[in-house]
Amino acid sequence: MILVTGATGHVGGELVRQLAAAGEPVRAMTRRPDGARFPSGVTAVHGDAADPASLEAAFAGVDGAFLMSAQAVGTAPEPTHDLALAAAAARAEVRRVVKLSTLDGGAGDDPIARWQSTAEAAVTDPARGFAWTLLRPGRFMSNALQWAGQLAAGDEVATPFADRPAASVDPADLAEIAALALTSGEHAGAAYELSGPQSLTPTQELAILGEILGRDLRVRPVSTDAARAGMSRYGFPPEVVDAIMRRTLDGDRGSEVLPTVEKLLGRPARTFAQWARAHAGEFPRPWVAAREG
Ligand SMILES: NC(=O)c1ccc[n+]([C@@H]2O[C@H](COP(=O)([O-])OP(=O)(O)OC[C@H]3O[C@@H](n4cnc5c(N)ncnc54)[C@H](OP(=O)(O)O)[C@@H]3O)[C@@H](O)[C@H]2O)c1
Repeated sequence: MILVTGATGHVGGELVRQLAAAGEPVRAMTRRPDGARFPSGVTAVHGDAADPASLEAAFAGVDGAFLMSAQAVGTAPEPTHDLALAAAAARAEVRRVVKLSTLDGGAGDDPIARWQSTAEAAVTDPARGFAWTLLRPGRFMSNALQWAGQLAAGDEVATPFADRPAASVDPADLAEIAALALTSGEHAGAAYELSGPQSLTPTQELAILGEILGRDLRVRPVSTDAARAGMSRYGFPPEVVDAIMRRTLDGDRGSEVLPTVEKLLGRPARTFAQWARAHAGEFPRPWVAAREG
C-alpha cells in the first residue's frame, strides 16, 4: 500500500492518478476525505500534519509513502509538519519514502536552508531506516494558477518578479518520478534536483497561456515593496521574506535547465505550453460567461 500525502495538491493529485492507473494500491491522505474526489479504487484517509495523532491510522500498514508539507517556511520554529510526517512513517515502519523538498534542499545559510535541512534530515536520518528519495524541484508551472482570480476580472495580471526567469517544472513530471521511486528500489538514497525544459519569465509564461486561452494577456509589474508586503500578509516572517528576495533577485539559480527529468523518465520534460493546454479548463473564461449570461 502506498500513502500519498498532499493527495489533493498539484503533485500528490497527479501521483494518486498515476499510481491508481498503474494498478498500485493507493491511500490518499487529506484533511477532508469526505469532500475529496479520487479515482475509483483509491482509499481516502483523514490525516492532518498539524495533529500528529491523526497520522497513525493514515500510515498503518503502508510500505511506501510520498511526503509533502504545506507548512510555510518560518511560520513555526521548526518544520513541525515534516517532522510529524516522518515520525509517523517511522512508527509505521514504512520502507520507501519519497519526500518533496525544494531546489538545493538545505544547502546555504539562511532560514529557508535551515528549515529544509531539518525537514530533509527527518527522512534521510539512517536511524529511521527508510529507503528514501528526495525530489528537489524549482518553481512549479502550477504557480500560474495563482493568476486565475485576476483573469476572471480582466486581461491584466499583477505578478512580482515578472522578468526573472525560471525553468519551471510540471508537477505531473514530479509525480511520475515519485511513482518510479515508490515502485522500484533503484532510486533509494538519491536527491534529484529538478527543473522543466525551458527557462521562462512569468511575462513569457503569461504570453504562452494567453495564446492557449485565446486572450491577449498582459503583466502589470509589482514593485519590490508590494511583493514584500504580499509575502508578509501570507505569513512569512521578515527574515524569510529577506531570504526569498535574495534568492529571487541575486544570481540565477532556478533558471538553469537541468537534465534530470529527461534522464529519469527517458523523454523530455513537459513544456509550459503542454502544462497550460492540460490545465486551460482551470482558468476562467469571462468572455464566455458574459456572452452566455
Ligand atoms: N510551488 C512551487 O513553486 C514549489 C517549488 C518547489 C517546492 N515546492 C514545494 O511543494 C510543496 C507544495 O506541493 P503542491 O503544489 O503539490 O501542494 P498544493 O497543491 O499547494 O497542495 C497543498 C496540499 O497540502 C495539503 N495540506 C495542507 N495542510 C495540511 C495539513 N495540515 N496536513 C496535511 N496535509 C495538508 C492539502 O491537503 P488538504 O487540504 O486536502 O488536507 C493539499 O493536498 C511545498 O512543500 C513546497 O515547498 C513548491
